[in-house]
This record gives sequence, structure tokens and C-alpha cells, in this order.
Amino acid sequence: MARIPPDVIDRVRDSADILDVVNQYIDLKRRGRNYFGICPFHQEKTPSFSVAPDKGIYHCFGCGAGGNAINFIMEHEKLSFVESVKSLGERYGIEINFEEGAGSGEFFSGLYEIHEKAADLYHGILFSERGSAALSYLNERGLTDKTLKLFRVGFAPESGDVLLNTCRGVFSEEILEKSGLFNKGQSGFFDRFRSRIMFPIAKASGKIIAFGGRIFSIDDPAKYLNSPETPLYKKSDILYGMDTTKSEIRDERNAILVEGYTDLLQIYQSGIKSVVAVSGTALTQNHVNQLGKFTKKVSVLYDGDEAGIRAAVRAGYILLRGSVEAAMVEVPDGMDPDDWVQKEGPKPLQSAIKNASSLLAFHLKSVSMKTMSAAERSELIKDILREISGIKDPVVRDDFLKSLASSAGLDDVEVIRMFKSQLKRKYKPDSQPEAGSEPDLFTTVETKAQAEIVRIIASQDSRFLERISSTLDIDLFTNPLLKKLAVFIIDKKGELTISELLDQLDEKGEREKVSALFMEDMDLMDSDQALKECIRSLKGQKLKDQIKAVRLELRDIESAGGDGSEQLNAIAKLQKELDDLE
Ligand code: CTP
Ligand code: MN
Repeated sequence: MARIPPDVIDRVRDSADILDVVNQYIDLKRRGRNYFGICPFHQEKTPSFSVAPDKGIYHCFGCGAGGNAINFIMEHEKLSFVESVKSLGERYGIEINFEEGAGSGEFFSGLYEIHEKAADLYHGILFSERGSAALSYLNERGLTDKTLKLFRVGFAPESGDVLLNTCRGVFSEEILEKSGLFNKGQSGFFDRFRSRIMFPIAKASGKIIAFGGRIFSIDDPAKYLNSPETPLYKKSDILYGMDTTKSEIRDERNAILVEGYTDLLQIYQSGIKSVVAVSGTALTQNHVNQLGKFTKKVSVLYDGDEAGIRAAVRAGYILLRGSVEAAMVEVPDGMDPDDWVQKEGPKPLQSAIKNASSLLAFHLKSVSMKTMSAAERSELIKDILREISGIKDPVVRDDFLKSLASSAGLDDVEVIRMFKSQLKRKYKPDSQPEAGSEPDLFTTVETKAQAEIVRIIASQDSRFLERISSTLDIDLFTNPLLKKLAVFIIDKKGELTISELLDQLDEKGEREKVSALFMEDMDLMDSDQALKECIRSLKGQKLKDQIKAVRLELRDIESAGGDGSEQLNAIAKLQKELDDLE
């Protein structure tokens, strides 16, 4: 049977911005972190339909409809899962190829394996005799062995057959070819990367899918050579370093965006860990969608030369259009963040990050608007208006328009008029949603605690799950749906999105319940503490049930004139366990 490969579904899910998808059909208005509008799935006058962009889900407090972006298209357009993925693929420019039969699962795991093997090999070589010159070079640039090990930096020697010799016979020809790790010449395959320092590029989940290679010791006009696009690697989807830094980004509620591999390593090493790199491509809306799931603010830290500043401005507008605030960091003229930190340590950089400019201020300064003629200024303003016409959030857009007017010394009304004449879309204001009409879900004490546990573990990362794995006994789950989710989350070590979690559920009713669960905002209380309380409540419930059962047994025995001392002991023991819990 033909099916869409799982990694393609992942890419569609990662790229499809729920806000953008829903916005095609309904006007949404922001209220706090979420957006509200009139529900398309039932008749209503006041909006109870809500969208949580950070979780990638929607939920109607009126009729209980809910799910992720794929589900929305399924329900709204009455399409199948596969058809919906196809339709979203078209919208986000992701090519949907179907795979035939069972062989393709193996194909993808082969591709992952060969990258893992290559990373190991190159990393091992860097720390061996053959890599010693490259290692000294990196050390001289200030990168410590610890940093190089954490990011699994490696070295590909000049010979051109090291990787080939490790992989030939182990992987099929097809895998060798499709991995992008080899070139094919007249006499067969040879290593693509030769005499290069190797930076493994991983998906957010940590799976390596490509490499970036920096030339070392030989002459080559291409300073950097990357993997080509492969079935695993689409460079416009990937942010370098995200796998290592995503929890810091989430914790800091900020991501520092740099251009290069070495910028990232150097900055991370200096203690500023919430950093990602675009590496070798312009920032895309896909990148922003991914970042937007972790943070609503990005500090753009591009090179301090003309090209870097221009690229930074472009990145800033792309962020803004994806509803992410851009804080623009100034780097001294001609330096890149790597040089800067190497030379002066992290302090000046830290204060530059703190004193970042708004996108508009940075942009206007970079083109030195003050020295422009009136005609040039008018062109510039039109360009800026075009850039911001794609901003979805009306509040952000209006703020921007006002600042633009005041920086350009123009009247607000005039700028808004210019803007409107460019704008095609209209935004209708909505009224407030009804409160308290949420359908009954997971309402018993027991299921509430289980639901809370699922909520907590789904919102945490692997470190948290590792820490609590010994206390979390999966058999405490009595609700099959919640148990299934908990097992899946634990299995994935918490490295998954809510939207991905929803795709585990085939039944619409289940998806709706789970969307409702995640739409409620988490209390900002300590997850450890909350989790302990939930587990204690479940254990207590289990003990109470056991006591009840033994009591019934005891009653039967006593009414038959038998000896109930064993049961009495058992009850006392259970009771003590229960008391100890509290
Ligand atoms: N890049 C790329 N392909 C190129 C050129 C650049 O992928 N042909 C990416 C790399 O990720 C590189 C980043 O763009 O790290 C920035 O490029 P550049 O500033 O030229 O290199 P640096 O990172 O400063 O590298 P180094 O300091 O080692 O010279
Ligand atoms: Mn550099």
C-alpha cells in the first residue's frame, strides 16, 4: 500500500502553522497567548473557538472540536488524513512522495544509521593522530575539546575513501547514493567530504541527517561544503544546534540566531546557550515556525559586515511575519560573533544582546535614512510596508506602523492610508468568547491526576523524564487513553510536540478530548511538586480501592463465621501505607 513516509508527515506537521491554517477560513483575534474566533464546526454568535499556536492545536470550548493543523483540514475540508497532509504539503511547499511497501521504513532507518556511523567515524578521527592538526587548529580558535565533543565535531581526511571503506558492504548502493555522503565518479563512489572539519547537522530530535564541512589545510574555493538535499535533509527546514539548545531556548524564552557553525559553538561555549544557526541558507518561514514553538522572541546576531546586516534585516521581517519578535543585535564592524567572543569574551556580547534594537531602528540605521532624499525615503517606506503586510498579528502590525510613522516624521494616518492601499486582507474585530462552557473531560479525581501527569510530562524535556522515571509507575494509569499517551511520551523521552501526540490517536473523539486537555493553560507551578502530588493521589486511590476490596472479603468471611485476621492484617498494612503517603 502506498503511504506517506513518516519523516514527510513530520515535516508537514512541523511546518504547518496552525494559526496560518485556521486563518484561511476564520478571522482570529488574539487574547493572551491564544487566538479566538467563531467556530466553523457549530453555530454560534460569540467566539468559543480557540487556537494555541505554541502547542499547534485548536479547541472549541463550545462544541468540543479539537486537533492539530492536519485534523483541522480533515474536519473542515472533509478530507482523509493522507489528503490533508497532501493539501498542507502544497501550501508549505513540501513535496509529498509516496513510498511503496514495507521496504521504505528500512530505507529511512538506513539513511539515519549511515549518518550516525559517519558522525562517529569523523569524530573519532578528529581525536586521533590523523585529526591532530585539525584539532589543534580548532583549539587555537578557542574551541575546547569539551565543546567539540558535545557537538560531535569531526574531521574527514583527504584520502576520499575512509567513509566509503566503513560503509561499503554494510549499506546498500541505494543508501550510499541517497545519503549525499558520496560522489560518484567513473570508478564508483568516493567520499564527498575530504580534508574538511565536519559539523554534524541534526533534526530537533537529535537524529543526524546531514553535515557541514569546513575546508582545512588544502586549497579549495568553497570554504564550506554541505550535504546536498536528500530524502532526510531539506536545508530550509533545519536550524543547526537546535537539538542541543532547544531546552535552553524554551527556558530562556529567547533564541539567539547566528549565521555560522563556529559562531554557535563559540557562543555556546562562552555560556550563552540558547543559540541556533541558520548555516548556509536564508532564514525561512519554516525555521520561524519551528522557533516559534519554543520562543516568541529571537535575538538576531548576524555578522557585522554589510552582507550580514542586510541578511539580518531580512531575517527580522521573516520573524515578525511569523509572529516572533526580532531583537537586532549590533556586532562591531567587520567582525562575526565568533571573532568577537574569542577576542573580548562574552561580556560585550551579553550587553549588546541586552541592548538590542528594534527591527525598525536597526533597519533605518543600516540604510542611513537620515541622509536619504525624499524620493529615496518614499521608496524605502513602500518597501517596509510591503514587508509588514504579511504580519498576521494586527497588534504587532499597528505598533510597527506607528513607529514607522514617527521615525519617518510622517503622520500616523498617512502611513496607515499608504499601508491600507497595499493590503488585501481585512481583519474583523470579534467579541469575547463564552466562558465556562467546556465539555466534561477527565473529571474524576483519578483521571484528573492522570491527565495532569500526561500534561506535565508532555511539556517537559528528556532531562525531566529521566529524573522522574523511577517514580512514575505506568500501571497507576487506569484510563486507557491517558495510559496510551503516557507510554508514547515516555517512549519518545518527551521529545515531541502536542501536535505530534495528537497524530497517535485515530479516533476523532479522543483527539478532541486531548486537545481540550492541552488547551487549558498549565499552572505555572513547580512541575516536580505537581507531579508528586498527582502520583501520590493515584497511589492513594489505588490503596483505597485495595482496602475496599479486602473489607468486602472480610465481611463475607465474618458473616460465614470464619477467621478474618489475615484480612485485618492486610487492611492495617494497606492503611499504614496510605497514611505514610500523606
Ligand atoms: N555557509 C555555508 N556554505 C557556504 C558558506 C557559508 O553553509 N558556502 C554557512 C556556514 O554555516 C558558515 C556560515 O554560513 O558557518 C557563515 O559563513 P562564513 O561567515 O563565511 O564562515 P564562518 O562561520 O565565519 O567560518 P570561519 O570562521 O570558520 O571562517
Ligand atoms: Mn568566522
